[in-house]
Amino acid sequence: MPEWLNALPKAELHLHLEGSLEPELLFALAERNQIALPWADVETLRAAYAFNNLQEFLDLYYAGANVLRTEQDFYDLTWAYLQRCKAQNVIHVEPFFDPQTHTDRGIPFEVVLRGIQQALRDGEQQLGISHGLILSFLRHLPEEEAFKTLEQAMPFRDAFIGVGLDSSEKGFPPRLFERVFAKARSEGLHAVAHAGEEGPPEYIWEALDLLKIKRIDHGVRAIEDERLMQRIIDEQIPLTVCPLSNIKLCVFEHMGQHNILEMLERGVKVTVNSDDPAYFGGYVGENFAALHEHLGMTEAQAKRLAQNSLDARLA
Ligand code: ADE
Ligand code: ZN
Repeated sequence: MPEWLNALPKAELHLHLEGSLEPELLFALAERNQIALPWADVETLRAAYAFNNLQEFLDLYYAGANVLRTEQDFYDLTWAYLQRCKAQNVIHVEPFFDPQTHTDRGIPFEVVLRGIQQALRDGEQQLGISHGLILSFLRHLPEEEAFKTLEQAMPFRDAFIGVGLDSSEKGFPPRLFERVFAKARSEGLHAVAHAGEEGPPEYIWEALDLLKIKRIDHGVRAIEDERLMQRIIDEQIPLTVCPLSNIKLCVFEHMGQHNILEMLERGVKVTVNSDDPAYFGGYVGENFAALHEHLGMTEAQAKRLAQNSLDARLA
């Protein structure tokens, strides 16, 4: 990666902590927790990182998360991510975690949260990286389950800046979660949601109008709807775009076809993020490098993208 890219101060606003679980750490945690894995070794697992769509990735991502059991495991996961951030001049992070992925396996909510929180605090003190944590609801599960998760989170209200919506997008429109988002907002939490990754522009409208989100996660399909484009430009609603993710999950065929710079030039407040870096081939730095290499991103454009990420912070 060019040094000028690495040196740019950046924020990461779209990162699933469970998606930063590198195969080496996954195997180490499996050994520590005495869990048998279906993959022979790290290389075999890495070779399985070939996906045709979001669902194929999610199946592996949830299987991988099964090795996370103890507070220490969640600490180690988060700490490893923050060290990568430090190396790439990411000075602020607003990561997601998926409580239901863990509580549904019998891991107590507070075990997950304490490990993540302690690492984030150490990151602030030892690495100088500020943060705001976002609790994400799994949209393939019923809204009732999201309500239960929000209830579990409320004793720890101050640990979060907001709620998000992730997992399988197609067939699970934002409108299904209108009430739980209203409840979260009434508690003073910000709202964000994945929309327009695989799903249609209609899902982005719903996320804006019904969930009243402050940022759109992905949102690359907004470009198919001119009226929607005008709205997100006029209102300067940030998009947390994840270029390497979009290629790995076949949202675009090649990086050369990605629309992030076209959006930037049209005045959309786009930012660069890694989504699930352990699975998609890189962290924020590698995402910036890919735009430079394949789309001819200039230094001026990189600076605007980095500044957008700092401007779009919720914490
Ligand atoms: N969970 C983790 N990564 C995701 C993505 N890219 N889209 C939806 N849900 C996710
Ligand atoms: Zn995501």
